[in-house]
Amino acid sequence: MAEVPSTKPQRIVILISGRGSNMQSIVEMAKGHSDMEVVAVIANRADSAGLIWAAEQGIATELIEHRDFADRLAFDQALMARIDTYQPDWVVLAGFMRILTDVFVSHYMAKLINIHPSLLPLFPGLDTHQRALSAACTVHGSTVHFVTPELDAGPTIAQSLVPVLQSDNEESLTARVLGMEHTLYPAVVEYLVRGDCFLNEQGEVQWSQPVQRLFAHSALKDFMSN
Ligand code: GRF
Repeated sequence: MAEVPSTKPQRIVILISGRGSNMQSIVEMAKGHSDMEVVAVIANRADSAGLIWAAEQGIATELIEHRDFADRLAFDQALMARIDTYQPDWVVLAGFMRILTDVFVSHYMAKLINIHPSLLPLFPGLDTHQRALSAACTVHGSTVHFVTPELDAGPTIAQSLVPVLQSDNEESLTARVLGMEHTLYPAVVEYLVRGDCFLNEQGEVQWSQPVQRLFAHSALKDFMSN
């Protein structure tokens, strides 16, 4: 009898710095899929609430505090050494508030992704929600992209779109964007694990399946007709 080829679940390591709500959304999604497993969650801050949640889920957790290292490179090298013990297929940045060295980025090129809370290339860097409000944007959102050496500039995989309402302040807009991130990020991780897209040799995102790449907030339709 022919042997059924067994495919090993793809191994995901998630890096966080704080709350970890995006990490949670990926962990919850992965629980329902036999082709992937979140094998570790690593944080760079001792007060990262997400680390406690991940440990409660039975996931391996590690704390590697950047403050313990002399410089950025020393921290990244220690981080890489720990990540590599998990033999990841994917390294997922989920609110990981560190600028990574080129050494780190090159080491995980094509398997390193990030979520950024703006419609890149608009508003790379910090304070994205306040900047979208100050610029009087009518739409805002977030972007999942492959990570390349330039900050927040790697090729886009998918985006989510939310309306910016007249009544919005930074808090309300942040909450709306974050809610959509919890749909967007797990969906992209699924695409990658299934092989629906990948980063090709030319550094572009290549698609092998036509999948949803824009996730619109339910209020957007009402907003457009008003
Ligand atoms: C998210 O808004 C994400 O876009 C940004 O940092 C935030 C992390 O939130 N990179 P959480 O820790 O996942 O709740």
